[in-house]
Amino acid sequence: MKLSSANINVMIKACRKASKTLIRDFGEIENLQVSVKGPGDFVTASDKKVEKILIEELQKARPNYSILSEEIGKISNDESFKWIIDPIDGTANFLHGIPHFAISIGLEKDREIICGIIYDPIKDEMFVAEKGNGSYLNNQRIRVSSRSKLEDCIIFTGGPKKESKDRELALKEYNNFSSKIHIPIRKLGSASLDMAYVAAGRCDGFWQRNLNYWDIAAGIIIIRESGGFVTDFYGENKYLENKTILATNSKINKEMIEVLK
Ligand code: IPD
Ligand code: CA
Ligand code: CA
Repeated sequence: MKLSSANINVMIKACRKASKTLIRDFGEIENLQVSVKGPGDFVTASDKKVEKILIEELQKARPNYSILSEEIGKISNDESFKWIIDPIDGTANFLHGIPHFAISIGLEKDREIICGIIYDPIKDEMFVAEKGNGSYLNNQRIRVSSRSKLEDCIIFTGGPKKESKDRELALKEYNNFSSKIHIPIRKLGSASLDMAYVAAGRCDGFWQRNLNYWDIAAGIIIIRESGGFVTDFYGENKYLENKTILATNSKINKEMIEVLK
């Protein structure tokens, strides 16, 4: 079985095309790592190149849709359809030659995410979902895990960002997890892949503060369509307003909210 609606096909095609540049540039990073200047400017350029290819491809197929993309910001058009793009999610990993980053694209219809794709070009893992039609990893249906006891779980998080005003709160939440329950907590450095891994049952939950819409848009539908929950830290749907996101399997959402308090 696989997902093959017209919009999904457009997203897959754009991702595949942009990922050729991404893979080629990742290969260059190793050489730049040892140079005096380091790969910083090269990575910024790469980010922009990947974004340009994605936008060109998406606009070619859907000229009327609006766009929100991390590097260039908003392109206003028909506001009822909007692509939400993160060209490289996991830039710090990319910059350091760590093969764990992804392209993430969500599609909104009337302010609701209806399709999402998260593509890890190095592992060639494509996570895709469409509203009402389930979530897939490389054309195989995926489901969230069924672990119900937090003590058996593995949990992902990220941040806090250096400049974040909620840094203290974020550190407190991290400490809550490490002191209240002794379970493995991982920071893999790509919020979109963190969410994709929850959807695929590789980990059981993910929490983070201060993420942007492009970090989570595709992940939201991929988790929901795999049977998981996406809420804010209070169990509500206000993850954009409250800038807190909690993504879990269907069993541990409440327990995680308690630990975060
Ligand atoms: C970042 C990654 C990281 C998360 C940061 C994000 P970027 O996105 O998702 O995992 O902890 O908060 O900004 O900058 O690599 O696109
Ligand atoms: Ca990001
Ligand atoms: Ca990015």
